[in-house]
Amino acid sequence: MSSTEQTILALRAQLDEHNHRYYVMNEPSIPDAEYDRLFYELKALEEKHPEFASPDSPTQRVGAQPSSAFAPIRHKVPMLSLDNVFSDEEFEAFIQRIQERLQSASMPAMAVEPKLDGVAVSLFYENGRLSYAATRGDGETGEDITHNVRTIKSIPLKLQGNGFPAELEVRGEVVMPHAAFKELNAEAEKNGLKVFVNPRNAASGSLRQLDPAVTAKRGLRFYAYSVGFYAKGKLPSAHSGVLARLREYGLPTSPELRCCKTLQECQEYYGELADKREGLAYDIDGIVYKVDDFALQQELGFVSRAPRWAVAFKFPAQEAVTRLNDVDFQVGRTGAVTPVARLEPVFVGGVTVSNATLHNM
Ligand code: IVH
Repeated sequence: MSSTEQTILALRAQLDEHNHRYYVMNEPSIPDAEYDRLFYELKALEEKHPEFASPDSPTQRVGAQPSSAFAPIRHKVPMLSLDNVFSDEEFEAFIQRIQERLQSASMPAMAVEPKLDGVAVSLFYENGRLSYAATRGDGETGEDITHNVRTIKSIPLKLQGNGFPAELEVRGEVVMPHAAFKELNAEAEKNGLKVFVNPRNAASGSLRQLDPAVTAKRGLRFYAYSVGFYAKGKLPSAHSGVLARLREYGLPTSPELRCCKTLQECQEYYGELADKREGLAYDIDGIVYKVDDFALQQELGFVSRAPRWAVAFKFPAQEAVTRLNDVDFQVGRTGAVTPVARLEPVFVGGVTVSNATLHNM
């Protein structure tokens, strides 16, 4: 076996393991940025060496297998993923590709919104009543979480007004706001229970409770970001119009939604939101840019797991993995001893970190 093939197999095994820990056990062991790094390393290798491609590769699917605790629900339209970009250059190349495909000299209007760091959920309304809710699962089949979703107060059980399609699948993100997350972990710590590593993990765990009364206490919120399947009714012909319509139906959408007409506007929005990020009530991990006009979206189409008409521009990672080289014990003037970690320098949150105080053992 060549060393490239070995690397590919090792990366696949690692990613499978992390996927399992994340989606099935609800217990991630590495930061998302580290997962992304491994994922893109594998993706790049597979693109360079198509002879080692495999339909079983983690790059070839959207999420992980749904767990068996909840009944499976097959999505009427697959729930896909988004490609990521991490720099202005990559973002410009994305816009460039769109213009080339559309043979257009200018950028099409882009609908722009925060990438909420929560759990993707699909809500199915029949004649305006919430009939079931599902997780994304592997993109084709999700888990039935209707009972838990019904406890989330920002999700209407009945749509407002009339004129909505008789069958309407709304998609969006369930997030746990920071305040609720802090409270939940403080409570867990007090009771000697396991704490959640981040709000998204806590949101995911809360949605997969067997007892909806537990979910109800977790302070979850929902924001709609698109429509999946719909029938027996009409909707506007652009993403921004659909979101406005969802708001009229009583569904919450992100207040940060904007339409950008130029590359410069797109970049300004990125800067604005990056500044706002700290102050928001919930986690966002980037910005999603979508071609607004559905006719153009259709013309652009999809590649394997992601649309060509949308991209996630990720913020720089806030977490990273590095090696702990040593621990020094500093003695302060009062005699207090502080252990200090000496780290292999690592770039995170826009700075290089090589030391960290460890406030206790
Ligand atoms: S649109 C085909 N919009 O990001 C387009 N997704 O990486 C699919 N997400 O599964 C999604 N905020 O859970 C979209 N404003 C937003 C989003 C968003 C968060 C999540 C969503 C999706 C994942 C894709």
